[in-house]
Amino acid sequence: MGEEFVVTPWEVRGKVDYDKLLAHFGARPLTPSDVELLAKYAGEVHPLIRRGFFYAHRDFDEILRWHGSGRPWALYTGRGPSGPVHIGHMVPWILLKWFSDKFGLEVYFQMTDDEKFYDDPELSLADTRRWAYENALDVIALGFTPDRLHLIIDTLDIKPLFPIAVKTAKKLTWNTVKATFGFTDSTNIGLIFYPSLQIAVAFLPTELRGEATPVLIPCAIDQDPYFRLARDIAESLGYPKPATLYSKFIMSLTGESKMSASNPDSAIYTIDDEKTVRRKIMNAFTGGRPTAEEQRKLGGNPNICPVFHYHMLFDPDDKSVEKIRQDCRSGALLCGECKLMLHDKISRFLKQHREAREKARDKVDQYRLSSKLR
Ligand code: TRP
Repeated sequence: MGEEFVVTPWEVRGKVDYDKLLAHFGARPLTPSDVELLAKYAGEVHPLIRRGFFYAHRDFDEILRWHGSGRPWALYTGRGPSGPVHIGHMVPWILLKWFSDKFGLEVYFQMTDDEKFYDDPELSLADTRRWAYENALDVIALGFTPDRLHLIIDTLDIKPLFPIAVKTAKKLTWNTVKATFGFTDSTNIGLIFYPSLQIAVAFLPTELRGEATPVLIPCAIDQDPYFRLARDIAESLGYPKPATLYSKFIMSLTGESKMSASNPDSAIYTIDDEKTVRRKIMNAFTGGRPTAEEQRKLGGNPNICPVFHYHMLFDPDDKSVEKIRQDCRSGALLCGECKLMLHDKISRFLKQHREAREKARDKVDQYRLSSKLR
């Protein structure tokens, strides 16, 4: 990948060159004709795709054609439950909900309490399970009903997954996973087996339905190594290859390529209170000039600005986002004012989200796959 940046499922470092990353992984850029195909079947295109935040894929066009021929498919994504959810995590899930609604699709959502336990020496299995339940509230709060959302908490809902993971594991050699994930002699063997579980969910809908049911996986590009392997072995196991749709990373409020869990001020968590949200936004790094006078004269740079990035992610109105971009560039809009506008949008989103989240609190088990298979 070169030395200037590093992207693995567990680490993102440096300034990410998204085109280089695609070439390195071997995924394809989303083209205007892919987007047209989506518009044809969905009737519209979600802003996150229109604005290029989701920018790459594997066989996205293929799965749309599969849909066009009237055959079944499903959605799959997941979360490593190691702490509270920030609003950046919610972005792919917002798109997930949109796909589920537009195409009437069931969603398989994996909570990897096992993965995060293996990966983080500080976390107990009780911790990651507790986070799995907490984080599930944020997913459910997007408005999913139990017939559409199937939650899989790995250590609790392993039963239907395990036989598939076993078949998957037999196809993956140490040589392959070592090279793909950068494992070393001191990696614990839990983490080494884990990829077979993340891959297994991609094959689960086919097993459950007893007919070929490929999945579309919307997620951030750092998860590609799993699904590249899944696609390599799918056919030899009698499963259709999963399709993927990849996003870029959410900018940190401090201006880095990705938010970091170790600096709580770099992200807005869904459980942050009003005051904290306001402070984080008002203190955010921007693409502005050192003084108001210079900003008026020279204008700011929205391309490197997390505040603009969040306007782009959370404002559905194209005209309003375009106006902010132009007014920033021209110097007509100063950072303080722009931050207040953002604060307004995020607070409105969070207020509604917090309420929905609390309503879900006693309902998580109804969404778990095991409760439906019994
Ligand atoms: N490994 C992912 C993480 O650490 C969690 C995950 C499991 C996932 N299955 C997935 C993410 C499918 C995207 C798609 O966050």
